[in-house]
Amino acid sequence: MRIVVIGTGYVGLVTGTCLAESGNEVTCVDKDARKIAVLEAGGLPIYEPGLLELVQRNRKEGRLHFSTSAVPVLDKAGLVFICVGTPQNSDGSADLASVWSVADEIADHLNRAEPRKTPLLVVVKSTVPVGTNQRLQRRLAEKTRGGFDVASNPEFLKEGSAVEDFMKPDRVVVGVRSRYAEQTLRDLYAPFLRTERPFLVMTPESAEMTKYVANAMLATKISFINEMANLCERIGADINDVRRGIGHDMRIGFQFLFPGPGWGGSCFPKDVQALIAMARAAGMPARIIESVLAVNEAQKRVLGGKIRDYYGESLPGRTLAIWGLAFKPRTDDIREAPSLVLIDELLRQGVAIRVHDPEAMHNVRAIYGDRLTYCDRPYAALEGADGLAIVTEWQEFRNPDFELMRRLLRHPVIFDGRNLYDPATVRELGFTYFGIGRVVSPGNPSQADR
Ligand SMILES: NC(=O)c1ccc[n+]([C@@H]2O[C@H](COP(=O)([O-])OP(=O)(O)OC[C@H]3O[C@@H](n4cnc5c(N)ncnc54)[C@H](O)[C@@H]3O)[C@@H](O)[C@H]2O)c1
Repeated sequence: MRIVVIGTGYVGLVTGTCLAESGNEVTCVDKDARKIAVLEAGGLPIYEPGLLELVQRNRKEGRLHFSTSAVPVLDKAGLVFICVGTPQNSDGSADLASVWSVADEIADHLNRAEPRKTPLLVVVKSTVPVGTNQRLQRRLAEKTRGGFDVASNPEFLKEGSAVEDFMKPDRVVVGVRSRYAEQTLRDLYAPFLRTERPFLVMTPESAEMTKYVANAMLATKISFINEMANLCERIGADINDVRRGIGHDMRIGFQFLFPGPGWGGSCFPKDVQALIAMARAAGMPARIIESVLAVNEAQKRVLGGKIRDYYGESLPGRTLAIWGLAFKPRTDDIREAPSLVLIDELLRQGVAIRVHDPEAMHNVRAIYGDRLTYCDRPYAALEGADGLAIVTEWQEFRNPDFELMRRLLRHPVIFDGRNLYDPATVRELGFTYFGIGRVVSPGNPSQADR
């Protein structure tokens, strides 16, 4: 099938590339000419493991194209995915301006094009509030004489494992009102569901809501364990023991129950806010998710608070190292990253900051310029620093050379926002150590069996 993907960001580029990989002819469109130029030159505008090889192969085999305009390719396309950003308005609701602008482009095309044998299927993959699909249907109907169908197909991929998630999804959710839309999407996704993963068909409203509820649930789990971690710290329990104690209960499990410096990224913050806005518009208080958001705002300040408490009045003028800037490992995305809250706080306190991240430094540099020192290697960030704060759990930070770290740091202090290290072990190695919700008690028997 010939497919047009409009919006070539994290979701659009992965979607388009994976659909090309399964044999479709795909054109990925973006209004950002710089992104398209990078892609046409054989590069990637984002970091996503495994994506570059797929893009290059499918380009070479003539199935994947890039363009700044959808106009020349919509004619022959059977399906168009809308994958543009849906950021947050100032009241928390989703800003759909890009979705409507693409919808109007599609309407213009339909008005100019020859009558079609089969309708152009317009599929919304962007995360959009409940009712958007219906509004899209109405908007296209008002502006055209027909020749289209619409569907909702929320995306659940995770940055850092996006290709794998798209190729082997846990499930595919589609919201449709016609047999045609259902069958077209079923055929399109069949190659990705060969391991009997479900293809779930529902109304567009339920599909749209599914995406928000999934993200709100995941954010809730993280905020919950963060709150429990903070409580553990105050009353003398260790969240890592507690986490293990509850995780083996099959009803609870281990996923998304790791305490940390707060969740960020391009999705959870705006999607939780949009869900709150939807509840408000429906006249219903959303007490749980409002708390989830409030807990997270506070959590993003926990690491900075520990640093302020430790250095007290001697904090201004000190130098701190930060390992990890991306909102999570295996991505260069820093949207709403907790690292930014920490950096702002430290800069406000007059602290000099030396940062390292394997992939995200260019994005951080675009915000802070020469107010930070950027270090290509993690150990270089430690040189002459009064302490280290770990914000993102990149794999390479898990087993560092502690001896070297101690030699490079002016003061061997670690503020471990991801609980990467065992408190007792690093203390024995001569570090002062602060985790999230951890206690260090030398006689604690549970420390011994790790
Ligand atoms: N990033 C994720 O992990 C993820 C996962 C699931 C769902 N989503 C949702 O998918 C959507 C896209 O997210 P993203 O992270 O890929 O965003 P992104 O910001 O990386 O990419 C969006 C792209 O759309 C382009 N664009 C905007 N308006 C356009 C227009 N009129 N014509 C052509 N291009 C246009 C932008 O230039 C940008 O490149 C959002 O609704 C998001 O919530 C994201």
